[in-house]
Amino acid sequence: MLSLTSLCLATVFLTTSASPLSFLSNIKHAKRAVTPVVSGTPQLLGVALDPTWNRDSCTSTRVRKRELWTCRDSQSKTAFLSSTASWTNASSDGTPAVVNGVLPMYGTNNVNNAYFPVQADECTAPAGNCNNGTRYALWPDTRPLPVDVGTDGSMSLYTWIKNVHLSGLTELNPNPPTSLYRSDFVPTQPVNQLPPVTLVNEQFWPAGSIAFGDYGFVINSSTAYLYGAMNNTGGPALAKVAVGKIEDPTAYKFWNGTAWTTTKPGLNDANAAIKNAGTGGQGTFYYSEYFSSYVWIGAPAIGCNAAFQIATSPTPYGDWTNPSTFYTGVAGNASFCPAYSQQAHPGLSKNHGSGNDIYLTYTKVDAGSAGYSTPLIHVVWQ
Ligand SMILES: *[C@@H]1O[C@H](CO)[C@@H](O)[C@H](O)[C@H]1NC(C)=O
Ligand SMILES: *[C@@H]1O[C@H](CO)[C@@H](O)[C@H](O)[C@H]1NC(C)=O
Ligand SMILES: *[C@@H]1O[C@H](CO)[C@@H](O)[C@H](O)[C@H]1NC(C)=O
Ligand SMILES: *[C@@H]1O[C@H](CO)[C@@H](O)[C@H](O)[C@H]1NC(C)=O
Ligand SMILES: *[C@@H]1O[C@H](CO)[C@@H](O)[C@H](O)[C@H]1NC(C)=O
Ligand SMILES: *[C@@H]1O[C@H](CO)[C@@H](O)[C@H](O)[C@H]1NC(C)=O
Repeated sequence: MLSLTSLCLATVFLTTSASPLSFLSNIKHAKRAVTPVVSGTPQLLGVALDPTWNRDSCTSTRVRKRELWTCRDSQSKTAFLSSTASWTNASSDGTPAVVNGVLPMYGTNNVNNAYFPVQADECTAPAGNCNNGTRYALWPDTRPLPVDVGTDGSMSLYTWIKNVHLSGLTELNPNPPTSLYRSDFVPTQPVNQLPPVTLVNEQFWPAGSIAFGDYGFVINSSTAYLYGAMNNTGGPALAKVAVGKIEDPTAYKFWNGTAWTTTKPGLNDANAAIKNAGTGGQGTFYYSEYFSSYVWIGAPAIGCNAAFQIATSPTPYGDWTNPSTFYTGVAGNASFCPAYSQQAHPGLSKNHGSGNDIYLTYTKVDAGSAGYSTPLIHVVWQ
């Protein structure tokens, strides 16, 4: 990953256009919370689409020159998987390679199991269906966390997934254990191959504890900061770990409201909650050199709409600004839940989200055979 500190100064120059003196005020206020403002009108570029799959809730991460996407429930003519993955390409100017309103998603998914494989004790692969109508829904909530491995361009990509057991929409096992999966990218893999996935630990975070990493992450200077939802505390909790130690649960430290400690907070430990680090709805954390801020972009709450909110903070642990709405997409025409799963895509954006733009997607649901789609929106900041 980029070193954030080394490039902060460059940002000061990039954001300076008004007058030579505004440069000075930018330095002075570099650590003050900012509220980004949209420049012009966000552009709907089309959809991210693999024509094989009708699929739900996609996220994405930059992997070298391409973007790796992971999605939830994915239906083809012959298969139904609880997760799939895809690649998308960039054009020579670095922007997503949208052609005629489509950003083509490609890559060969194994239809015998989900991209994040369903385990033997999670009912039946590839979708986690049980023989009594209940289901283990192994749905990724957050983009894979990228870690460089060695010097040949290989990467490990980490995804934490809660082992939610559903009966209809009811969770049979609230606060379930969380599995850690690792995708291994090697530059010599064929272009259509998706990075193969290994289950690191099915119960990496035990049942009844905070699922750090499931609510999002940011990386600075080889330290990963991992957010995990809490129970009615008004914000998520935060853990940190060296990127090389992600698979070792004993290597983590936890924010207790004032300091990093080795004591893991509980789900109800309100002191550890970070106010306004996300709304509780789905979204994406990243770091922006353009704003010298950590950024969260996502939904106003867990719900069914296409509104995008933004909050920023000078550090991963706050203080975060109040999330505010900056864009609202067009919902589908399905009667039940016509839009959700708002995501930002720093990997598609200039300088990994550190430039003056950001790409957004959400899941749009239309009635009948149209089903799920993934609108792609480009936002430029003032
Ligand atoms: C993506 O780029 C690869 C080369 O890296 C090329 O082989 C492939 O055809 C491209 N796919 C699409 C859909 O543009
Ligand atoms: C359905 O089957 C699963 C898997 O065997 C089991 O864990 C669960 O308790 C059953 N649920 C109900 C409501 O019968
Ligand atoms: C990144 O981490 C370093 C070391 O902890 C810290 O000094 C620096 O302020 C951090 N940068 C940002 C942008 O948070
Ligand atoms: C979550 O918080 C509510 C009160 O807000 C409490 O009744 C419930 O027991 C808590 N759940 C867990 C798993 O701690
Ligand atoms: C957080 O940890 C620090 C350092 O160990 C300690 O002094 C402080 O009391 C802790 N705060 C809470 C709320 O537990
Ligand atoms: C819903 O939207 C889809 C996709 O735009 C369209 O094909 C379909 O006709 C619409 N259905 C209704 C009932 O409006």
